[in-house]
Amino acid sequence: MSLKKIHDDQPKEFKFSNENLKKAEEILKKYPEANKKSAVMPFLYLAQKQNDNWIPLAAMKYIANFLSMPYISVYEVATFYTMYNLAPVGKYFIQVCTTTPCLIRGADKIVKLCKKNVSPNENEISKKGNCSWMEVECLGACVSAPMIQINENYYEDLDEKSAKEIIDSIIKDNPLKPGSYRGRKNTSPEKKQSLSEENYA
Ligand code: FES
Repeated sequence: MSLKKIHDDQPKEFKFSNENLKKAEEILKKYPEANKKSAVMPFLYLAQKQNDNWIPLAAMKYIANFLSMPYISVYEVATFYTMYNLAPVGKYFIQVCTTTPCLIRGADKIVKLCKKNVSPNENEISKKGNCSWMEVECLGACVSAPMIQINENYYEDLDEKSAKEIIDSIIKDNPLKPGSYRGRKNTSPEKKQSLSEENYA
């Protein structure tokens, strides 16, 4: 199934859950009434999260009504930014960074793992229907290369073994924790380094 085009099988209706309605009201408080359409991006995020990681056209129409703005304006925003998915991507959407720092640290091996274990081609839903993958440009975590993003989480400092374990865990719907897989805290050095004078020599 190609994810690149707007998905054919669109749900007819969409509305925010009660929980998301409350969040939407909170978001609206950040903007003056006259500029409430500025909330379109966080609203699209809410819709995407509520709808298994993708935004149906019905959600764009709902948001347009909610914010009293033309549907085409919501559509323009949703189709402009690549972080909005306009077709199903599965419960777990794996983005593999293949920009130079990640690539020279082994991102190509992670791509191979995705091809083998998720789906042969990027933008294709896995056989079990719960995940898909795609290659993306730098996700801003080059210092922890190679890395992948699954939904909102970063998995960093990967190698073939850890990447395989992470992919297996999401296929089983029991995702491993995000973060560094070399035990680093944020971007700190791997081993404690003494600040002896030699360090400054
Ligand atoms: S190159 Fe992969 S995060 Fe920047």
